[in-house]
Amino acid sequence: MRRILPVLALMAGAACTTIPPEAMQEAAPARMVAPVLATPDALDTSTYAQPQLARVTHVALNLDLDFVARRIAGTATLDIVAAPGADTIVLDDKGLAITSVTTEAGRPLQWSVGAADGEKGAPLEIVIGAARRVTIAYSAVDADALQWLAPEQTAGREHPFLFSQGQSILNRTWIPTQDSPGIRQTWEARITAPKPLDVVMSGIQQGTPEDLGDGRRAFRFAMDKPVAPYLIAIAAGDIDFAPIGSRTGVWAEPATLGRAHYETSDTERMVEAAERLYGPYRWGRYDMIVLPPAFPYGGMENPVMTFLTPTFIAGDRSLTGLVAHELAHSWSGNLVTNAVWGDSWLNEGVTSYFENRIVEEIYGTKRARQEVALDYAAIIETLAEVGEDAPGTALHQPDGTESAGSAIIYNKGAAFLRTLEQEYGRERFDAWLRQWFDKHAFQPATSAMIYEDLKANLVGSEAEAERIKLREWIYAPGLPENVAKPDPAAFAEIDAASAAYAKDGSLPSGWAAWTSAERQRFLQSLPQERSAGQLATLDSALGLSTSGNNEELFLWIELALANRYDPAVPLAERFLGRVGRTKFVRPLFAALWAQGDWGRPIARRIYAGTRDGYHAATRGSVDRIFAND
Ligand code: BES
Ligand code: ZN
Repeated sequence: MRRILPVLALMAGAACTTIPPEAMQEAAPARMVAPVLATPDALDTSTYAQPQLARVTHVALNLDLDFVARRIAGTATLDIVAAPGADTIVLDDKGLAITSVTTEAGRPLQWSVGAADGEKGAPLEIVIGAARRVTIAYSAVDADALQWLAPEQTAGREHPFLFSQGQSILNRTWIPTQDSPGIRQTWEARITAPKPLDVVMSGIQQGTPEDLGDGRRAFRFAMDKPVAPYLIAIAAGDIDFAPIGSRTGVWAEPATLGRAHYETSDTERMVEAAERLYGPYRWGRYDMIVLPPAFPYGGMENPVMTFLTPTFIAGDRSLTGLVAHELAHSWSGNLVTNAVWGDSWLNEGVTSYFENRIVEEIYGTKRARQEVALDYAAIIETLAEVGEDAPGTALHQPDGTESAGSAIIYNKGAAFLRTLEQEYGRERFDAWLRQWFDKHAFQPATSAMIYEDLKANLVGSEAEAERIKLREWIYAPGLPENVAKPDPAAFAEIDAASAAYAKDGSLPSGWAAWTSAERQRFLQSLPQERSAGQLATLDSALGLSTSGNNEELFLWIELALANRYDPAVPLAERFLGRVGRTKFVRPLFAALWAQGDWGRPIARRIYAGTRDGYHAATRGSVDRIFAND
């Protein structure tokens, strides 16, 4: 049996005894041992790590990319702090082929991989003895986190491409470390790749690439601030860079770079707006990479290098709330991080609120309010679907509850903060949120912590907490009745147009001049049952099938498939063959699946052709639809 050991330097309290709290509020110094929470609600059941015994503080990767074998191989050297007497460290491993584990002096260490448990992978236990730095030699073929794209899946169609997606628990498929959001680690990397590919990571590039003389180059990166390990990310391909401001810029394939740069050119101003709202941007540079359309998400907030889908490019910056969102994660998520995935509203809900504040600063109140109204409608829709009592509609999700989806974590989370803003006024609310970020910078957080912090620093008393339903907001399903309602004027014109259409089929005359949010609202509020004739009329009058805005195109295809509209099937097939973004792909297959005899054969046929082109995360979500046979 394992001895229970004194926790000492491994826990938050101990870190604070050597590092004064004021110092922890500043940008974390290199190699700082970031605190780990020890309360039961901060216990991450998705990791095998036992940070109270021994934990990783720094990861040094030395890896080669092999695009032919879809293999990443090399070493990970881990720095460890361990409680006195602890002689083993437990890491997370999912499918890694480990060949050796050695000390700094090259002495082999004993290691073993335990039984694997589905999503979670397996524990990798290393007997460290007195060693505090270990090197693991390993490789990973077709790791779930990594998507290796064939040249045909890129815009240039000439070179292969690679990107990673770590959130939530996929990085253990290519990095042997403690893969838990509450266990922050600094990291560095040396990555080799064949010419002419460039490599970017979620760390600052060190120097210029080194030509190795064998057709390959080595790239070096470092992240000197402790980050949650899901935020270690890599991409490689035939990519170029275009600067935006002095600390911002965008990478993309040459064929995409012009459009990517136009779409992201408000980014420097967004960083400035975010800083005015909630304090300094603490990561140095803010760059982005626009990936090929197989990327499974809209965006991913990898530090100093946000990853973006190209499907947000509409040519008019109408979908750049995505950039505001990923940027906002530089505070909510990357600076203050959910300790456990059941509290991901602390990342996503707070970020969605912050996103909207940035949108308001850059694009004005009309657009910001419209986006709030769209988000609110999505909450109502989800509650109608799953029921107001469904446990998955609470913000805090204890282990074992299945989330009712993004409208809760993102939109209800944001609605909670908007309600507080309305109750206490912007000035007080903003001061509160800023101090929350400052006080917990580079540290994990839980629902219980934000509850206590709100009570002490914004709400003021238990009675007041009761009045504004603080506990209900965080822990109960449904939507508390004091929710801040969206501005009824936001879509007044659109809702009138949609009512007119529903009544007598009259088409909206203002469509061409409408904002993207307005068009999305109209498409979402149409009567859901439409005949083929009605759909044909809508399509030809509004040009839906040829829309260059993927959010609008998606809503149209979804509506068409839900009505068994044959003429839209080739369009759906092209869209699903091009785009791997889960948010679009999963609902379209679900819409087909829901159409039984008509839709299921189509879904099966399309998926047979597109599945291999999707990231493991997208594949997993679609596979689950097909499993409901
Ligand atoms: N961090 C998320 C993406 C994510 C969430 C990956 C959960 C894996 C598991 C990212 O910041 C995000 O929220 N992306 C959204 C953006 C949208 C809300 C503007 C997306 O991908 O659609
Ligand atoms: Zn997010």
